Amino acid sequence: MEFLDLINIAGQAMELENPTSVAKIVTAGKYLGLREGSRVLDFGCGFAEPLVIWAEEFGITAVGVEVREYACTRARRKVAARGLADRIDIIRAAGEEYSTDGQQFDAVTCLGATFIWGGYQQTIHAMSRALRTGGRLGIGEQYWLSSSAPPIYVQHESSTYSEEELLQFTRTEGFDLERIVRASHEDWDAYEGGRWHGLIRWLEENPHHADRAQVIERLRSMQEEYLRYGREYLGWAIYVLAPSVI
Ligand SMILES: C[S@@+](CC[C@H](N)C(=O)[O-])C[C@H]1O[C@@H](n2cnc3c(N)ncnc32)[C@H](O)[C@@H]1O
Repeated sequence: MEFLDLINIAGQAMELENPTSVAKIVTAGKYLGLREGSRVLDFGCGFAEPLVIWAEEFGITAVGVEVREYACTRARRKVAARGLADRIDIIRAAGEEYSTDGQQFDAVTCLGATFIWGGYQQTIHAMSRALRTGGRLGIGEQYWLSSSAPPIYVQHESSTYSEEELLQFTRTEGFDLERIVRASHEDWDAYEGGRWHGLIRWLEENPHHADRAQVIERLRSMQEEYLRYGREYLGWAIYVLAPSVI
């Protein structure tokens, strides 16, 4: 079984694949200035839940870029079922290779996938090319809640920064940090628990599968990592960035 198959199994019962909620996605949409006719480009769009929420709440049109076939199929099915096929396009592509052909968007977002470009700062740099003058970037990113994480975990999460460092990267790239929509411990529990549930459900449904040991190993390591380290040391938030006026 490939790594992506394990991700698909873990996400099978989820719509949002981040420690956040429908209400917080709506709040982020407000902070991004979304309104009827706003054009949004979302990288690593997953099952397109944020785009569907913003289309229903604010009347946006959007392009979602997603590399995983399973996620694209689910996203397109959802978009069609909600009557939004004329508003939201799902493109199967690697975000780092996707070209907007000079198109500019009112908001460019990436929720939980800055690894596409190698980190938070590189993500601002890459996404700003597709942003219209005066538009907003929305980036969902994890950060260190505390500076006392054990060195072994710091090494494991080597592309995670403190919020102070994220602020400096934001300024260096010519943006100001305008808003924060922060995940609560409950959001984290719902996100992690959603993934455990997907894996446990698969184990219940596949009692004799040849790859069972791999799925059990994935479940156990995810649970141990979260309860030993992640819950105490990691935060997550959606940062809304405005082009600097200072
Ligand atoms: C943590 S999930 C977040 C999904 C979605 N943004 C959400 O909030 O529900 C990250 C997503 O990025 C996608 N992804 C990973 N690498 C990518 C790449 N190079 N280009 C585009 N999408 C990618 C994954 O398949 C996954 O769906």
